[in-house]
Amino acid sequence: MALTQSPLLWIVGGALVSYILYTRIALYLRRQRMIKEHGCKPCPYVFNKDPILGLDVFRDNIQLSKAKRILPGFRSRFLNLKTNTFHSRMMDLPLIATCEPENVKTILSLKFKDFTLGARTRAFSPLLGDGIFNSDGEKWANSRHLLRPNFARDQVADLEAFERHFKLMLKHIPKDGSTVDLQQLFFRFTIDTATEFLFNHSTDSLRMMDVDENNEDVIFSKAFTEAQDDIMMRTRLGFLDVFRPNKKGNEAIKICHAYVDKFVDDAIAWRREHDAEKAAGWTQEDGRYVFIRELAKQTDDRKRIRDELMNILLAGRDTTASLLSNMWFEIAKRPEVWTKLREEVKSLDGRLPTYEELRNLKYLRWCLNESLRVNPVVPGNSRYCIRDTVLPLGGGPDGKHPLFVRAGTLVGYSPFAMHRRADIYGPDADDFRPERWETLRPGWEYLPFNGGPRICLGQQYALTEASYVTARLLQEFAAIESRDENGGVWVEGLTLTCASGNGTKVALTPA
Ligand code: HEM
Repeated sequence: MALTQSPLLWIVGGALVSYILYTRIALYLRRQRMIKEHGCKPCPYVFNKDPILGLDVFRDNIQLSKAKRILPGFRSRFLNLKTNTFHSRMMDLPLIATCEPENVKTILSLKFKDFTLGARTRAFSPLLGDGIFNSDGEKWANSRHLLRPNFARDQVADLEAFERHFKLMLKHIPKDGSTVDLQQLFFRFTIDTATEFLFNHSTDSLRMMDVDENNEDVIFSKAFTEAQDDIMMRTRLGFLDVFRPNKKGNEAIKICHAYVDKFVDDAIAWRREHDAEKAAGWTQEDGRYVFIRELAKQTDDRKRIRDELMNILLAGRDTTASLLSNMWFEIAKRPEVWTKLREEVKSLDGRLPTYEELRNLKYLRWCLNESLRVNPVVPGNSRYCIRDTVLPLGGGPDGKHPLFVRAGTLVGYSPFAMHRRADIYGPDADDFRPERWETLRPGWEYLPFNGGPRICLGQQYALTEASYVTARLLQEFAAIESRDENGGVWVEGLTLTCASGNGTKVALTPA
Protein backbone atom coordinates (compact mmCIF):
# COMPACT_ATOMS: atom_id res chain seq x y z
CA MET A 1 0.00 0.00 0.00
CA ALA A 2 1.39 3.46 -0.89
CA LEU A 3 2.32 5.52 2.15
CA THR A 4 -0.24 8.24 1.29
CA GLN A 5 -2.99 5.65 1.37
CA SER A 6 -2.19 4.52 4.93
CA PRO A 7 -5.26 5.35 7.11
CA LEU A 8 -3.05 5.69 10.20
CA LEU A 9 -1.05 8.42 8.54
CA TRP A 10 -4.23 10.27 7.60
CA ILE A 11 -5.47 10.05 11.17
CA VAL A 12 -2.18 11.29 12.68
CA GLY A 13 -1.88 14.07 10.06
CA GLY A 14 -5.48 15.14 10.62
CA ALA A 15 -5.03 15.20 14.39
CA LEU A 16 -1.91 17.31 14.07
CA VAL A 17 -3.56 19.85 11.77
CA SER A 18 -6.59 20.03 14.09
CA TYR A 19 -4.35 20.55 17.09
CA ILE A 20 -2.43 23.35 15.38
CA LEU A 21 -5.66 24.98 14.24
CA TYR A 22 -7.15 24.67 17.70
CA THR A 23 -4.16 26.23 19.48
CA ARG A 24 -3.97 29.06 16.92
CA ILE A 25 -7.66 29.86 17.23
CA ALA A 26 -7.52 29.62 21.03
CA LEU A 27 -4.51 31.98 21.07
CA TYR A 28 -6.26 34.40 18.73
CA LEU A 29 -9.39 34.43 20.89
CA ARG A 30 -7.37 34.86 24.08
CA ARG A 31 -5.54 37.81 22.58
CA GLN A 32 -8.76 39.41 21.33
CA ARG A 33 -10.22 39.08 24.83
CA MET A 34 -7.15 40.72 26.35
CA ILE A 35 -7.27 43.55 23.81
CA LYS A 36 -10.95 44.16 24.57
CA GLU A 37 -10.56 43.88 28.33
CA HIS A 38 -7.81 46.51 28.41
CA GLY A 39 -9.33 48.80 25.80
CA CYS A 40 -6.22 48.45 23.58
CA LYS A 41 -6.07 50.16 20.21
CA PRO A 42 -3.55 49.46 17.46
CA CYS A 43 -0.61 51.80 17.05
CA PRO A 44 -0.91 53.33 13.58
CA TYR A 45 2.69 54.57 13.42
CA VAL A 46 5.10 52.29 11.60
CA PHE A 47 8.68 53.02 10.78
CA ASN A 48 9.59 50.44 8.14
CA LYS A 49 8.81 50.21 4.47
CA ASP A 50 9.93 46.59 4.05
CA PRO A 51 7.22 44.78 6.04
CA ILE A 52 8.95 41.37 6.00
CA LEU A 53 12.52 41.91 7.16
CA GLY A 54 12.62 45.66 7.75
CA LEU A 55 15.73 45.84 5.55
CA ASP A 56 15.24 49.57 4.97
CA VAL A 57 15.58 50.12 8.74
CA PHE A 58 18.69 47.95 8.77
CA ARG A 59 20.25 50.06 5.96
CA ASP A 60 19.22 53.28 7.68
CA ASN A 61 20.82 52.12 10.94
CA ILE A 62 24.12 51.30 9.20
CA GLN A 63 24.25 54.74 7.60
CA LEU A 64 23.46 56.46 10.90
CA SER A 65 26.15 54.43 12.64
CA LYS A 66 28.78 55.40 10.02
CA ALA A 67 27.84 59.08 10.42
CA LYS A 68 27.94 58.78 14.25
CA ARG A 69 24.32 59.91 14.28
CA ILE A 70 22.48 56.92 15.71
CA LEU A 71 21.06 58.92 18.63
CA PRO A 72 19.68 61.95 16.74
CA GLY A 73 18.63 59.60 13.93
CA PHE A 74 16.60 57.34 16.22
CA ARG A 75 15.14 60.35 17.98
CA SER A 76 14.05 61.91 14.69
CA ARG A 77 11.88 58.83 14.05
CA PHE A 78 9.72 59.81 17.03
CA LEU A 79 9.74 63.47 15.99
CA ASN A 80 9.00 62.85 12.30
CA LEU A 81 6.18 60.42 13.02
CA LYS A 82 4.94 62.83 15.72
CA THR A 83 4.49 60.03 18.21
CA ASN A 84 6.16 58.68 21.35
CA THR A 85 5.58 55.03 20.40
CA PHE A 86 5.84 53.29 17.04
CA HIS A 87 6.15 49.87 15.45
CA SER A 88 9.09 48.65 13.44
CA ARG A 89 10.89 45.45 12.52
CA MET A 90 14.40 44.16 13.03
CA MET A 91 14.94 41.32 10.58
CA ASP A 92 12.53 38.63 11.79
CA LEU A 93 11.75 40.41 15.05
CA PRO A 94 8.75 42.72 15.55
CA LEU A 95 9.78 45.83 17.46
CA ILE A 96 7.99 48.51 19.44
CA ALA A 97 9.98 51.66 20.16
CA THR A 98 8.89 54.03 22.91
CA CYS A 99 10.01 57.15 24.78
CA GLU A 100 6.90 57.27 26.95
CA PRO A 101 7.73 57.31 30.71
CA GLU A 102 4.58 55.36 31.65
CA ASN A 103 5.48 52.62 29.18
CA VAL A 104 9.05 52.44 30.44
CA LYS A 105 7.80 52.17 34.02
CA THR A 106 5.53 49.31 32.95
CA ILE A 107 8.32 47.41 31.18
CA LEU A 108 10.92 47.83 33.91
CA SER A 109 8.78 47.71 37.00
CA LEU A 110 5.04 47.08 36.92
CA LYS A 111 5.23 44.17 34.46
CA PHE A 112 8.87 43.28 35.06
CA LYS A 113 8.15 39.55 34.80
CA ASP A 114 6.70 39.87 31.28
CA PHE A 115 10.13 40.81 29.91
CA THR A 116 13.69 39.45 29.71
CA LEU A 117 16.97 40.81 28.37
CA GLY A 118 16.52 38.87 25.12
CA ALA A 119 19.39 38.31 22.68
CA ARG A 120 21.83 40.36 24.77
CA THR A 121 22.62 37.39 26.98
CA ARG A 122 23.80 35.27 24.04
CA ALA A 123 26.12 37.99 22.72
CA PHE A 124 27.53 38.89 26.13
CA SER A 125 27.94 35.47 27.66
CA PRO A 126 31.41 34.57 26.27
CA LEU A 127 32.84 37.42 28.37
CA LEU A 128 30.28 37.77 31.15
CA GLY A 129 29.03 34.22 31.70
CA ASP A 130 26.00 34.14 33.98
CA GLY A 131 26.67 37.26 36.02
CA ILE A 132 24.14 39.84 37.17
CA PHE A 133 24.28 42.04 34.10
CA ASN A 134 23.70 39.14 31.78
CA SER A 135 21.12 36.88 33.35
CA ASP A 136 17.38 36.71 33.84
CA GLY A 137 14.88 35.08 36.17
CA GLU A 138 16.14 33.07 39.08
CA LYS A 139 19.80 33.31 38.10
CA TRP A 140 19.58 37.10 38.05
CA ALA A 141 17.70 37.16 41.39
CA ASN A 142 20.48 35.04 42.95
CA SER A 143 23.16 37.37 41.63
CA ARG A 144 21.33 40.45 42.84
CA HIS A 145 20.89 38.85 46.25
CA LEU A 146 24.61 38.01 46.38
CA LEU A 147 25.82 41.45 45.31
CA ARG A 148 23.36 43.93 46.74
CA PRO A 149 24.73 43.95 50.30
CA ASN A 150 28.12 44.99 48.92
CA PHE A 151 26.58 48.15 47.48
CA ALA A 152 24.14 48.84 50.29
CA ARG A 153 26.76 50.42 52.56
CA ASP A 154 26.41 54.14 53.03
CA GLN A 155 29.94 54.87 51.92
CA VAL A 156 30.48 52.40 49.12
CA ALA A 157 33.39 54.20 47.45
CA ASP A 158 36.88 54.58 48.89
CA LEU A 159 37.86 58.26 48.75
CA GLU A 160 41.45 57.54 49.76
CA ALA A 161 41.85 55.24 46.78
CA PHE A 162 40.29 57.89 44.51
CA GLU A 163 42.83 60.43 45.77
CA ARG A 164 45.79 58.11 45.11
CA HIS A 165 44.69 57.53 41.52
CA PHE A 166 43.74 61.19 41.09
CA LYS A 167 47.30 62.26 41.96
CA LEU A 168 48.58 59.97 39.21
CA MET A 169 46.07 61.41 36.76
CA LEU A 170 47.15 64.93 37.65
CA LYS A 171 50.68 64.16 36.49
CA HIS A 172 49.39 63.67 32.95
CA ILE A 173 47.59 67.01 32.71
CA PRO A 174 49.85 69.67 31.16
CA LYS A 175 50.27 72.88 33.16
CA ASP A 176 51.49 74.98 30.24
CA GLY A 177 48.19 75.47 28.45
CA SER A 178 48.73 72.70 25.90
CA THR A 179 45.82 70.44 24.90
CA VAL A 180 44.95 67.28 26.81
CA ASP A 181 42.22 64.75 26.10
CA LEU A 182 40.64 64.30 29.52
CA GLN A 183 38.51 61.44 28.21
CA GLN A 184 41.53 59.16 27.87
CA LEU A 185 42.57 59.93 31.42
CA PHE A 186 39.05 59.38 32.76
CA PHE A 187 38.91 55.91 31.17
CA ARG A 188 42.23 54.98 32.76
CA PHE A 189 41.18 56.44 36.10
CA THR A 190 37.97 54.41 36.24
CA ILE A 191 39.55 51.08 35.28
CA ASP A 192 42.27 51.66 37.89
CA THR A 193 39.79 52.47 40.65
CA ALA A 194 37.25 49.81 39.64
CA THR A 195 39.86 47.02 39.57
CA GLU A 196 41.16 48.10 42.97
CA PHE A 197 37.59 48.17 44.32
CA LEU A 198 36.66 44.79 42.83
CA PHE A 199 39.86 42.70 42.72
CA ASN A 200 41.81 44.33 45.53
CA HIS A 201 44.48 44.96 42.88
CA SER A 202 44.56 47.97 40.57
CA THR A 203 45.53 47.85 36.89
CA ASP A 204 47.38 51.09 37.69
CA SER A 205 47.24 52.12 34.05
CA LEU A 206 47.80 55.79 34.93
CA ARG A 207 51.09 54.89 36.56
CA MET A 208 52.15 52.69 33.68
CA MET A 209 51.08 54.88 30.79
CA ASP A 210 53.35 54.13 27.85
CA VAL A 211 55.81 52.34 30.12
CA ASP A 212 55.68 48.60 29.84
CA GLU A 213 53.65 47.00 27.07
CA ASN A 214 54.29 43.51 28.45
CA ASN A 215 53.05 44.17 31.93
CA GLU A 216 50.11 41.89 32.67
CA ASP A 217 47.96 44.74 33.99
CA VAL A 218 48.49 46.67 30.76
CA ILE A 219 47.73 43.55 28.73
CA PHE A 220 44.52 43.03 30.70
CA SER A 221 43.36 46.65 30.24
CA LYS A 222 43.81 46.34 26.49
CA ALA A 223 42.21 42.90 26.34
CA PHE A 224 39.21 44.15 28.32
CA THR A 225 38.61 46.94 25.79
CA GLU A 226 38.99 44.46 22.92
CA ALA A 227 36.63 41.99 24.58
CA GLN A 228 34.03 44.75 24.93
CA ASP A 229 34.38 45.63 21.24
CA ASP A 230 33.94 41.95 20.51
CA ILE A 231 30.67 41.59 22.40
CA MET A 232 29.44 44.76 20.72
CA MET A 233 30.14 43.11 17.35
CA ARG A 234 28.39 39.91 18.48
CA THR A 235 25.35 42.01 19.43
CA ARG A 236 25.28 43.79 16.07
CA LEU A 237 25.67 40.65 13.97
CA GLY A 238 23.21 38.52 15.93
CA PHE A 239 22.94 34.98 14.57
CA LEU A 240 25.27 35.89 11.66
CA ASP A 241 28.14 36.15 14.14
CA VAL A 242 28.94 32.43 13.78
CA PHE A 243 30.33 33.20 10.30
CA ARG A 244 32.81 35.80 11.63
CA PRO A 245 36.40 34.65 12.09
CA ASN A 246 37.07 35.82 15.60
CA LYS A 247 40.45 34.74 16.91
CA LYS A 248 41.30 38.15 18.36
CA GLY A 249 38.06 38.53 20.32
CA ASN A 250 38.24 35.01 21.76
CA GLU A 251 41.87 35.52 22.72
CA ALA A 252 41.02 38.80 24.50
CA ILE A 253 38.25 37.10 26.48
CA LYS A 254 40.65 34.32 27.54
CA ILE A 255 43.19 36.88 28.77
CA CYS A 256 40.50 38.67 30.80
CA HIS A 257 39.30 35.44 32.43
CA ALA A 258 42.82 34.25 33.28
CA TYR A 259 43.68 37.63 34.82
CA VAL A 260 40.60 37.72 37.06
CA ASP A 261 40.88 34.02 38.01
CA LYS A 262 44.16 34.74 39.77
CA PHE A 263 42.50 37.20 42.13
CA VAL A 264 39.56 34.88 42.66
CA ASP A 265 41.94 32.07 43.67
CA ASP A 266 43.71 34.42 46.10
CA ALA A 267 40.38 35.43 47.65
CA ILE A 268 39.22 31.82 48.03
CA ALA A 269 42.58 30.89 49.62
CA TRP A 270 42.24 33.88 51.96
CA ARG A 271 38.75 32.79 52.95
CA ARG A 272 39.92 29.24 53.78
CA GLU A 273 42.72 30.62 55.92
CA HIS A 274 40.31 33.06 57.53
CA ASP A 275 37.83 30.23 58.31
CA ALA A 276 40.60 28.10 59.81
CA GLU A 277 41.81 31.00 61.98
CA LYS A 278 38.26 31.70 63.08
CA ALA A 279 37.76 28.06 64.03
CA ALA A 280 40.96 28.21 66.05
CA GLY A 281 39.67 31.37 67.73
CA TRP A 282 42.52 33.70 66.78
CA THR A 283 41.19 35.63 63.81
CA GLN A 284 41.79 39.36 63.48
CA GLU A 285 39.70 41.42 61.08
CA ASP A 286 41.65 44.40 59.77
CA GLY A 287 38.36 46.28 59.24
CA ARG A 288 39.15 46.95 55.59
CA TYR A 289 36.34 46.26 53.16
CA VAL A 290 37.46 44.10 50.22
CA PHE A 291 34.77 43.36 47.64
CA ILE A 292 36.23 40.11 46.27
CA ARG A 293 36.73 38.72 49.77
CA GLU A 294 33.13 39.51 50.68
CA LEU A 295 32.05 37.43 47.67
CA ALA A 296 34.45 34.64 48.60
CA LYS A 297 32.87 34.57 52.06
CA GLN A 298 29.52 33.80 50.45
CA THR A 299 30.58 31.27 47.81
CA ASP A 300 33.67 29.35 46.75
CA ASP A 301 32.37 28.80 43.24
CA ARG A 302 35.32 30.15 41.26
CA LYS A 303 33.45 30.79 38.00
CA ARG A 304 30.56 32.43 39.80
CA ILE A 305 32.83 34.95 41.52
CA ARG A 306 34.72 35.64 38.30
CA ASP A 307 31.51 36.15 36.33
CA GLU A 308 30.09 38.59 38.85
CA LEU A 309 33.31 40.61 39.02
CA MET A 310 33.53 40.76 35.23
CA ASN A 311 29.92 41.93 35.05
CA ILE A 312 30.41 44.69 37.56
CA LEU A 313 33.63 45.83 35.92
CA LEU A 314 31.79 46.06 32.62
CA ALA A 315 28.79 47.81 34.15
CA GLY A 316 30.87 50.24 36.15
CA ARG A 317 33.99 51.19 34.29
CA ASP A 318 33.06 52.84 30.99
CA THR A 319 29.84 54.27 32.37
CA THR A 320 31.48 56.55 34.94
CA ALA A 321 34.29 57.52 32.53
CA SER A 322 31.67 58.37 29.88
CA LEU A 323 29.72 60.51 32.32
CA LEU A 324 32.88 62.43 33.23
CA SER A 325 33.92 62.93 29.63
CA ASN A 326 30.45 64.12 28.55
CA MET A 327 30.09 66.49 31.48
CA TRP A 328 33.58 67.97 31.12
CA PHE A 329 32.93 68.44 27.40
CA GLU A 330 30.02 70.72 28.32
CA ILE A 331 31.69 72.47 31.24
CA ALA A 332 34.73 73.36 29.12
CA LYS A 333 32.53 75.40 26.77
CA ARG A 334 30.74 77.35 29.50
CA PRO A 335 32.73 79.85 31.55
CA GLU A 336 29.63 80.76 33.59
CA VAL A 337 29.18 77.13 34.70
CA TRP A 338 32.90 76.84 35.45
CA THR A 339 32.80 79.97 37.62
CA LYS A 340 29.84 78.68 39.64
CA LEU A 341 31.50 75.31 40.15
CA ARG A 342 34.76 76.92 41.29
CA GLU A 343 32.84 79.13 43.71
CA GLU A 344 31.13 76.08 45.16
CA VAL A 345 34.29 74.05 45.77
CA LYS A 346 35.84 77.03 47.52
CA SER A 347 33.63 76.01 50.44
CA LEU A 348 36.09 73.15 50.98
CA ASP A 349 38.88 75.65 51.80
CA GLY A 350 41.31 73.59 49.74
CA ARG A 351 40.79 70.41 51.83
CA LEU A 352 40.15 67.03 50.28
CA PRO A 353 36.38 66.52 50.16
CA THR A 354 34.66 64.12 52.54
CA TYR A 355 31.61 62.06 51.64
CA GLU A 356 29.32 64.50 53.36
CA GLU A 357 30.89 67.50 51.65
CA LEU A 358 30.64 65.88 48.23
CA ARG A 359 26.96 65.29 48.79
CA ASN A 360 26.48 68.95 49.63
CA LEU A 361 28.02 70.28 46.42
CA LYS A 362 24.61 71.11 44.99
CA TYR A 363 25.62 72.83 41.76
CA LEU A 364 28.04 70.02 40.95
CA ARG A 365 25.20 67.52 41.39
CA TRP A 366 23.03 69.59 39.04
CA CYS A 367 25.80 69.42 36.42
CA LEU A 368 26.02 65.62 36.75
CA ASN A 369 22.23 65.30 36.53
CA GLU A 370 22.13 67.58 33.52
CA SER A 371 24.89 65.72 31.70
CA LEU A 372 23.09 62.42 32.29
CA ARG A 373 19.89 64.00 31.00
CA VAL A 374 21.22 65.58 27.78
CA ASN A 375 23.73 62.85 26.99
CA PRO A 376 22.72 59.73 28.93
CA VAL A 377 25.53 57.23 29.17
CA VAL A 378 23.11 54.40 28.42
CA PRO A 379 21.01 56.21 25.81
CA GLY A 380 18.95 53.28 24.57
CA ASN A 381 17.97 49.87 25.86
CA SER A 382 15.51 47.09 25.17
CA ARG A 383 13.61 44.22 26.68
CA TYR A 384 12.16 41.11 25.07
CA CYS A 385 8.50 40.37 25.76
CA ILE A 386 8.03 36.74 26.87
CA ARG A 387 4.27 36.72 27.44
CA ASP A 388 1.42 38.71 25.93
CA THR A 389 1.09 41.97 27.79
CA VAL A 390 -0.23 45.53 27.62
CA LEU A 391 1.53 48.89 27.70
CA PRO A 392 -0.56 51.78 29.05
CA LEU A 393 0.15 54.19 26.17
CA GLY A 394 0.86 54.15 22.44
CA GLY A 395 -2.46 52.82 21.10
CA GLY A 396 -4.70 54.83 18.77
CA PRO A 397 -3.78 57.83 16.60
CA ASP A 398 -3.29 60.04 19.68
CA GLY A 399 -1.17 57.36 21.43
CA LYS A 400 -3.26 57.76 24.58
CA HIS A 401 -4.77 54.26 24.59
CA PRO A 402 -3.30 51.02 25.90
CA LEU A 403 -1.24 49.03 23.43
CA PHE A 404 -1.26 45.24 23.15
CA VAL A 405 2.23 43.67 22.95
CA ARG A 406 2.41 40.09 21.88
CA ALA A 407 5.01 37.64 23.18
CA GLY A 408 8.08 37.60 20.97
CA THR A 409 8.20 41.38 20.48
CA LEU A 410 11.31 43.41 21.24
CA VAL A 411 10.46 46.63 23.07
CA GLY A 412 13.12 49.32 22.72
CA TYR A 413 13.08 52.37 24.96
CA SER A 414 15.11 55.50 24.52
CA PRO A 415 16.26 57.56 27.52
CA PHE A 416 17.99 59.85 24.98
CA ALA A 417 14.74 60.75 23.18
CA MET A 418 12.76 60.83 26.44
CA HIS A 419 15.26 63.14 28.21
CA ARG A 420 15.00 65.59 25.31
CA ARG A 421 11.23 65.73 25.04
CA ALA A 422 10.24 69.40 24.81
CA ASP A 423 6.79 68.68 26.27
CA ILE A 424 8.50 67.39 29.44
CA TYR A 425 11.64 69.53 29.77
CA GLY A 426 10.57 72.67 27.90
CA PRO A 427 11.62 74.22 24.58
CA ASP A 428 15.29 74.28 25.63
CA ALA A 429 15.31 70.53 26.31
CA ASP A 430 18.35 70.07 24.04
CA ASP A 431 20.46 72.58 25.98
CA PHE A 432 22.84 71.82 28.83
CA ARG A 433 21.44 74.07 31.58
CA PRO A 434 22.23 72.81 35.11
CA GLU A 435 20.07 75.53 36.67
CA ARG A 436 16.92 73.70 35.59
CA TRP A 437 17.59 71.22 38.42
CA GLU A 438 16.75 73.89 40.98
CA THR A 439 13.08 73.00 40.52
CA LEU A 440 13.15 69.80 38.49
CA ARG A 441 11.98 66.63 40.34
CA PRO A 442 11.48 64.08 37.58
CA GLY A 443 10.14 60.55 37.99
CA TRP A 444 10.28 57.93 35.25
CA GLU A 445 10.88 60.62 32.61
CA TYR A 446 14.48 60.77 33.82
CA LEU A 447 16.18 57.40 33.60
CA PRO A 448 19.99 57.45 33.50
CA PHE A 449 20.34 54.53 35.92
CA ASN A 450 17.32 52.48 34.87
CA GLY A 451 14.50 51.77 37.32
CA GLY A 452 12.59 48.94 38.95
CA PRO A 453 14.14 45.73 40.27
CA ARG A 454 17.14 46.02 37.92
CA ILE A 455 18.03 49.58 38.83
CA CYS A 456 21.78 50.23 38.66
CA LEU A 457 23.56 48.91 41.74
CA GLY A 458 26.49 51.27 41.36
CA GLN A 459 24.66 54.61 41.18
CA GLN A 460 26.05 55.94 44.47
CA TYR A 461 29.53 54.68 43.67
CA ALA A 462 29.45 56.35 40.24
CA LEU A 463 28.12 59.69 41.46
CA THR A 464 30.65 59.76 44.29
CA GLU A 465 33.51 58.96 41.94
CA ALA A 466 32.46 61.52 39.32
CA SER A 467 31.92 64.17 42.03
CA TYR A 468 35.28 63.45 43.60
CA VAL A 469 37.24 63.76 40.35
CA THR A 470 35.38 66.90 39.37
CA ALA A 471 35.78 68.61 42.74
CA ARG A 472 39.49 67.81 42.82
CA LEU A 473 40.08 69.11 39.28
CA LEU A 474 38.22 72.29 40.20
CA GLN A 475 40.52 72.73 43.19
CA GLU A 476 43.64 72.21 41.09
CA PHE A 477 42.79 74.40 38.10
CA ALA A 478 41.64 78.01 37.84
CA ALA A 479 40.54 78.13 34.23
CA ILE A 480 39.52 75.87 31.35
CA GLU A 481 39.28 76.26 27.61
CA SER A 482 37.63 73.86 25.17
CA ARG A 483 39.99 72.70 22.43
CA ASP A 484 37.39 70.58 20.67
CA GLU A 485 38.23 70.25 16.98
CA ASN A 486 34.56 70.05 16.03
CA GLY A 487 33.73 73.57 17.23
CA GLY A 488 32.32 72.32 20.52
CA VAL A 489 29.53 70.30 18.89
CA TRP A 490 29.12 67.08 20.88
CA VAL A 491 28.95 63.94 18.76
CA GLU A 492 28.22 60.46 19.98
CA GLY A 493 30.92 57.88 20.62
CA LEU A 494 28.64 54.91 20.95
CA THR A 495 29.97 51.56 22.15
CA LEU A 496 28.31 49.73 25.01
CA THR A 497 28.01 53.16 26.60
CA CYS A 498 27.96 56.61 25.08
CA ALA A 499 30.81 59.09 25.54
CA SER A 500 31.83 62.15 23.57
CA GLY A 501 32.89 60.83 20.13
CA ASN A 502 35.68 63.39 19.73
CA GLY A 503 37.08 62.98 23.21
CA THR A 504 37.22 65.80 25.78
CA LYS A 505 40.01 68.03 24.54
CA VAL A 506 40.72 70.98 26.80
CA ALA A 507 43.48 73.22 28.11
CA LEU A 508 43.66 73.85 31.86
CA THR A 509 45.35 76.64 33.80
CA PRO A 510 46.70 75.70 37.26
CA ALA A 511 45.18 77.49 40.26
C1 HEM B 1 27.36 57.02 35.41
C2 HEM B 1 27.55 55.76 35.69
C3 HEM B 1 26.55 54.66 35.49
C4 HEM B 1 25.41 54.62 34.74
C5 HEM B 1 24.83 55.75 33.89
C6 HEM B 1 24.83 53.31 34.91
C7 HEM B 1 23.67 52.90 34.30
C8 HEM B 1 23.14 51.64 34.43
C9 HEM B 1 21.97 51.16 33.73
C10 HEM B 1 21.14 51.98 32.74
C11 HEM B 1 21.76 49.88 34.09
C12 HEM B 1 20.64 48.95 33.62
C13 HEM B 1 21.09 48.10 32.47
C14 HEM B 1 20.04 47.11 32.05
O1 HEM B 1 19.36 46.52 32.89
O2 HEM B 1 19.85 46.90 30.84
C15 HEM B 1 22.79 49.53 35.06
C16 HEM B 1 22.90 48.31 35.66
C17 HEM B 1 23.92 47.98 36.51
N1 HEM B 1 24.93 48.79 36.97
FE1 HEM B 1 25.21 50.72 36.46
N2 HEM B 1 25.63 52.58 35.74
C18 HEM B 1 26.68 53.36 36.13
C19 HEM B 1 27.72 52.99 36.96
C20 HEM B 1 27.82 51.81 37.61
C21 HEM B 1 28.88 51.45 38.52
C22 HEM B 1 30.04 52.38 38.90
C23 HEM B 1 28.66 50.18 38.91
C24 HEM B 1 29.45 49.30 39.86
C25 HEM B 1 30.54 49.64 40.47
C26 HEM B 1 27.45 49.73 38.27
C27 HEM B 1 26.88 48.50 38.44
C28 HEM B 1 25.73 48.07 37.80
C29 HEM B 1 25.22 46.72 37.91
C30 HEM B 1 25.82 45.58 38.74
C31 HEM B 1 24.08 46.66 37.10
C32 HEM B 1 23.17 45.46 36.87
C33 HEM B 1 21.99 45.52 37.81
C34 HEM B 1 20.98 44.40 37.57
O3 HEM B 1 20.82 43.95 36.44
O4 HEM B 1 20.35 43.99 38.56
N3 HEM B 1 26.96 50.74 37.49
N4 HEM B 1 23.61 50.61 35.24
